[in-house]
Amino acid sequence: MASNMNDDKNRVVIFDTTLRDGEQSPGATMSHAEKLEIAELLDEMGVDIIEAGFPIASDGDFAAVAEIAKRSKDAVICGLARANIKDIDRCWDAVKHAAQPRIHTFIGTSPLHRAIPNLDKEQMVERIHDTVTHARNLCDNVQWSPMDATRTELDYLRRVVEVAIKAGATTINIPDTVGYTAPVESAALIAMLIAEVPGADEVIFATHCHNDLGMATANSLAAVAGGARQIECTINGLGERAGNTALEEVVMALKVRRDIMPWTTRVDTTKIMHISRRVAAVAGFPVQFNKAIVGKNAFAHESGIHQDGMLKNAETFEIMRPSDVGLKETNIVMGKHSGRAALRSKLKDLGFDLADNQLNDVFVRFKTLADRKKEIFDEDLEALMRDQGNVGQRIEIKHLRVVCGTEAPQTADLILTIDGVDHSASVQGDGPVDAAFKAVKQVMGHNARLQLYQVHAVTEGTDAQATVTVRMEEDGMITTGEAADTDTVLASARAYVSALNRLAMRRDKAGPDADRREVSYKDVG
Ligand code: KIV
Ligand code: ZN
Repeated sequence: MASNMNDDKNRVVIFDTTLRDGEQSPGATMSHAEKLEIAELLDEMGVDIIEAGFPIASDGDFAAVAEIAKRSKDAVICGLARANIKDIDRCWDAVKHAAQPRIHTFIGTSPLHRAIPNLDKEQMVERIHDTVTHARNLCDNVQWSPMDATRTELDYLRRVVEVAIKAGATTINIPDTVGYTAPVESAALIAMLIAEVPGADEVIFATHCHNDLGMATANSLAAVAGGARQIECTINGLGERAGNTALEEVVMALKVRRDIMPWTTRVDTTKIMHISRRVAAVAGFPVQFNKAIVGKNAFAHESGIHQDGMLKNAETFEIMRPSDVGLKETNIVMGKHSGRAALRSKLKDLGFDLADNQLNDVFVRFKTLADRKKEIFDEDLEALMRDQGNVGQRIEIKHLRVVCGTEAPQTADLILTIDGVDHSASVQGDGPVDAAFKAVKQVMGHNARLQLYQVHAVTEGTDAQATVTVRMEEDGMITTGEAADTDTVLASARAYVSALNRLAMRRDKAGPDADRREVSYKDVG
């Protein structure tokens, strides 16, 4: 059964939905180029299936899924479609370019979700039969999901799963859409469906968990114990509300606890750290410091007792090695005398393989940083890579001077270049960042609302760079901007302008990044 890739009974298929369910999270919108980059990293790390988007949602989503499909190497490329012919046709038009395409179609089957399209149970059964049959006539790899399965009556769930299998679905996904289920139930539900639904042994069962009660990873692993052989997950657990199952958690749990969980994946775990950082950067969702596997503190041992034990034997407190997830020892690596070749090779070590023109741009910014900061650490270079500078931006900060002091208010003098024309403002604010943001606002006259302002020190020391993340919202459109600098106020202003640049790009409706979602995946359509 080539489409299901599961001849080995202990092999668990990893289905990544960072670019669909993850990207759906408010504020996590990625640009076309960023989606292509993340898809390439997922493919390279050995993810089996990439859910690349929801093609009917917008022309931008369609273009991204189609391009990811064209560029795919080993991964199956999947698109999402609601239970209607138009969605499924649009999805097929996007994924058909892949060497291995998949259509994923779904409908909400719980009583609350059935009420939305106003279909009774029989009408819904008919809809499932017709839509899965249609998808299967287009593509021999079809996944079907009863959304909110964990709150669907068991009798009805058995019935709809049977209908979908008979209509040609090759994977049946059981979503815990609202993060309600618990591990014992998760295992029992999958085991029951496999035991009781006719034809169940012909398909793969998948688990798709949300983390509202913090149980997504446990529920996914329990589902595997119950017989599921596909886990749906996202990098960093990105996703709406409390997010989805985190890919890095299930993959590392399976690797570290093989003694009690004999299931294997194809994922190269040494690529985890790099993709985690890239997803955090492009989605504008920083990873919490104590997040399992990928948090900044996940491998830090600061208490005296821990350090003592670690020095004697790393296994005292470490159940996995930092290198297992691609974390390298932080050394002082570069300085102002380091050349282009050294920078290229160091960035390659960190997972960034740059073309000549990209290297030139980064090299200029690296030199500027090295003039101000004696020791350039790996984290500094990563921050430099996350901050895309002014390349291709319509709005740029040409000059910013903020006068600070014990007496408020603070004053910001700003020159902003918009489409090549300089505009200046001198504005007072409550603190230097407030003054700088107000100056930008005065020049641009925008109505966007600041939703998030976050500052992190990249390394230790008073000359550390600050990485600033800013999230803005205007008329339902949400964008994020990120910038790094040894000057916190300048980094803040640049992150703010970067988020505004992205809003302007979307508003202009020029190119695949520009349009926004016209449909919601919560409707049947
Ligand atoms: O959580 C969910 O139910 C989903 C479906 C579309 C599979 O994401
Ligand atoms: Zn979901």
